[in-house]
Amino acid sequence: MTALLEVTDLSIQFGGLRAVSEVDFSLAEGEILGLIGPNGAGKSTIFNLINGVLPPSSGRILFGGVDITGWAPYRVVRHGLARTHQIVRPLNDMSVLENCVVGGCFGRDNLTLAAARHKAAAVIEEVGLGEHRAVLARHLTIAHKKRLEIARALCANPRLLLLDEVLAGLNPTEVARMIEVLKAIRRQGVAILMIEHLMQAIMSLSDRVMVLNFGRKLAEGTPAAVVNDPAVIEAYLGTPDAAHKLAGEG
Ligand SMILES: Nc1ncnc2c1ncn2[C@@H]1O[C@H](COP(=O)(O)OP(=O)(O)O)[C@@H](O)[C@H]1O
Ligand SMILES: [Mg+2]
Repeated sequence: MTALLEVTDLSIQFGGLRAVSEVDFSLAEGEILGLIGPNGAGKSTIFNLINGVLPPSSGRILFGGVDITGWAPYRVVRHGLARTHQIVRPLNDMSVLENCVVGGCFGRDNLTLAAARHKAAAVIEEVGLGEHRAVLARHLTIAHKKRLEIARALCANPRLLLLDEVLAGLNPTEVARMIEVLKAIRRQGVAILMIEHLMQAIMSLSDRVMVLNFGRKLAEGTPAAVVNDPAVIEAYLGTPDAAHKLAGEG
């Protein structure tokens, strides 16, 4: 079976800093791959390379068997690969519904405005923003802004969704609610590559986990194997609250 996403020898250099270095990985249709690693490890940069915000210094990105390396972001999302941002980026002066309509119009299905509205209304219900559909994005709480990021990406009808710390900054109730949203997305067969610090969430959602450290892939495997990997424990012990995080208490 060919992988949905296949990344080979991916690297990027920022001046003297090699933020991502010779990273290889693949992801199957419908799979959830967790991407973890200390702050500054290069996780968000990998997303920027995959969705075309940054051109790689070297390497190749195959998506659905097509070489998308160096494609512009608008073209990548049209091809079925959507993302959220670690720092949420809603269109602040547009409503929840309008933000999602934009996602639909510029997504995989090339929807008409009417079809995009229809899709947006359904997705907004799915992520639990129904009551807020007419609210301007700027007036949402952070938890709702994160749901909006996901909703907007889902409106593009992606085959693969890249999620950058969608649980960060949420309280335990909001985290639990968001995990349910992510499980519902998984049930629809959308593959997910998710960057997350919250180990409980990674452990409960991911089929596999990949660990990045100093731009390089440090480990990859089942969640249980990865958290027991001595190299991973050492990388995390370099950060203050690492032991707790690995114990799933973070
Ligand atoms: N556009 C950029 N220009 C220069 N340096 C960058 C840029 N983007 C990220 N970096 C640097 O690359 C490293 C990895 O960043 P990032 O991918 O955001 O880490 P993570 O998401 O794992 O916390 C950091 O040292 C960061 O400062
Ligand atoms: Mg990041």
